[in-house]
Amino acid sequence: MGYLCLLLPLFLAATAWSKFVLQPGPFLKLPDRNNRYTVNNGAANKASYDNQENYLYVIGYKADLLHIVNMTDPNTPQLIASKYFQMVNMGLPDSVKVCRGGTNREFLAISFESVGQLEKSHVYLFQLFDSTNYDGPLVNLKAHATVEGFDPRDMGWKRDCSELLVLSEGNPHEVNGIFTDPPATMDILIPSFGNNVDKITVPIIESDLEAANVRYIFQQCEGDGDSTERSSRVQDLEPKAVYVDRNDIAFVVFQDNNAMGTLNMSDPFAKMQYYDLGRKDWSSFGLDGSYDDGGLNLKSRMLQSFYQPRDLDGVYVDGKLWLVTADAGSIRKYSLSSCSFDESSTARNWNQPFADGLTAAEVQQLDSDMNSNAEIGRLSVSKLRQSSDGWDSAFQGYDFVCTYGGRGFSIIDPATMSRVFDSGDDFERYYTSLDATEPQKAIFNAKVGGYSTAQSSQVDRASPEQGPQPSNIAVVQRSA
Ligand SMILES: *[C@@H]1O[C@H](CO)[C@@H](O)[C@H](O)[C@H]1NC(C)=O
Ligand SMILES: *[C@@H]1O[C@H](CO)[C@@H](O)[C@H](O)[C@H]1NC(C)=O
Repeated sequence: MGYLCLLLPLFLAATAWSKFVLQPGPFLKLPDRNNRYTVNNGAANKASYDNQENYLYVIGYKADLLHIVNMTDPNTPQLIASKYFQMVNMGLPDSVKVCRGGTNREFLAISFESVGQLEKSHVYLFQLFDSTNYDGPLVNLKAHATVEGFDPRDMGWKRDCSELLVLSEGNPHEVNGIFTDPPATMDILIPSFGNNVDKITVPIIESDLEAANVRYIFQQCEGDGDSTERSSRVQDLEPKAVYVDRNDIAFVVFQDNNAMGTLNMSDPFAKMQYYDLGRKDWSSFGLDGSYDDGGLNLKSRMLQSFYQPRDLDGVYVDGKLWLVTADAGSIRKYSLSSCSFDESSTARNWNQPFADGLTAAEVQQLDSDMNSNAEIGRLSVSKLRQSSDGWDSAFQGYDFVCTYGGRGFSIIDPATMSRVFDSGDDFERYYTSLDATEPQKAIFNAKVGGYSTAQSSQVDRASPEQGPQPSNIAVVQRSA
């Protein structure tokens, strides 16, 4: 997207955590390298904030560029400068992370994916932009290194900027028409003397993933004539985002896999520990599962969903860390000429047997709702035959039916890895409240089409997918 949009759920700390106010923030349109200001021009994919100078570094993957935005006055973000990368030499930027750790330890890290993912990725460490050195990040490269992964998704610095953790998903793709599914990789880059960068590759162990019951989605392509190569849990694992706390513990979310991992970045022999993020039960919350039927139609459902955070952040309250996750949801699908795969189907086309987890009356109700488009017939649900997805192998049927995304955000206590808060159905419920204005209701669960299509023309069309789908989260603390 070529837009930088700030939507602010503001918490009223004086009352309960669960009270929040949605307030659309300012926005800034960003151009692609041909100076076009259009939606989906690939001019803004990821951002990292330098809170010393108040600059926001925004990378655009498809447009192959970096924008530097002045956020000194948060109500009027201003574009200061843009740098265009060279696709052929460097590739396309796919993640960005600022670090300030004292003299000679200040970096703007940007990872680059080679076009077509034919080569491993590179991470470039640039100088930061500051008010006395406008050209710094535009020309001054401090160092660069190659990582083991092909498609970095996020990076996390140790607090003193001595090490950078780079997460690569290893998404399946084709090389010369041949199917390939690289493993997930986590590299730690250590900038040392001069331009040297040392590298440690964090081991990811198949049996650790299995023991922690990490959701295993893609095992093999589905269609006739597709590749018959099997993918391991390590190939299936897809790290999406990382937050590094004050003790240099990295918390990583594996979105599709519905899992979180922790890694002690100070321990060179550390392995990642994995945790299942659990499921949300919709019998006590409302969700809109129907499509384009006039908007707000929230009902509680006999369904579960995977939280599947796309992003996370951390916040300290009285010295204790809490993690906050944006529970977007994600459905694994491939349509390559060598491989087709879809872990989901619409509820209406699901047609799977049930097991003893539901009573006969519950099955009857659920079956009838799943077969009705006015209810949840168009909702995407999992058809994976795994216990994480409700499959009961003893009964050869499903104990429950699972859809995608928490449609909100959660707060997790990292000491126990338990969820202490869930925004429930507040993101959708808000639009049924008197606080919601008519223009806000006009974009309820809307999809974004071309730049000439008004968002209000696609109202309610995201309902059977992941609904509000919060995909990024940042926490700020304000004094009362
Ligand atoms: C950033 O904005 C502030 C005030 O909004 C201004 O004083 C400052 O000069 C700007 N910096 C740059 C580099 O444009
Ligand atoms: C991380 O590892 C270092 C070095 O082994 C150790 O001193 C520290 O206590 C560890 N931190 C945690 C939170 O386990």
